[in-house]
Amino acid sequence: MKPDFEIAENKLKEVATLLNTLLADEYILYTKTRNAHWNIQGKNFNELHKFFEGQYEPLDIIIDDTAERVRALGHFALGTLKDFLQVARLSEINDDFSDQDHIIQTLLIDHESIIRSLSKDIITAAECKDLGTADFMTGIMEKHEKMAWMLRSYLN
Ligand SMILES: [Fe+2]
Repeated sequence: MKPDFEIAENKLKEVATLLNTLLADEYILYTKTRNAHWNIQGKNFNELHKFFEGQYEPLDIIIDDTAERVRALGHFALGTLKDFLQVARLSEINDDFSDQDHIIQTLLIDHESIIRSLSKDIITAAECKDLGTADFMTGIMEKHEKMAWMLRSYLN
C-alpha cells in the first residue's frame, strides 16, 4: 500500500532516487573508512584505528536511517553492493595505507563531496514538498560537516 501524503507520487519517486544515491555514497564511504580502520599503518596506529571507528559508527547509522527513509516514502532501498557501485557518485580506491595524510585527505574529500551533493538535494526535496526528507538530509549534512572537521584537523 502506497503512502497517502501531500507529496505527488512522481515527486516521492524523485526524492527516493536521491536518497538511494545518497545511500550508495554512504556505503562506499563507510567501507573506505572501515578499510582505513583496519589497514592504517604508522606509529600512531592505535589513535587512528580508534578515530576511524568513531567515524564509521555514525556512518553505519546514517546508512540504516537513509534506507529506512526510502521505505517510509513507499519505495525500495537499494540493498546490493552491485547496485551501490552502479549509482554511487564516490569511487573506490586501492590506497597505500602507510601514507596517513593521503588516506585522511581521501576520506575528507568524500565527506565534502557528500556535503555538496546534499546541499543541492535538500533544495530539490523541499521543491518536491518533501520537508521531512529535506530536514532529514540537513541533519545528515551536519553530521558530515562535523566528521569533515575532525579529518581536516589532522591535516595542515
Ligand atoms: Fe574494529
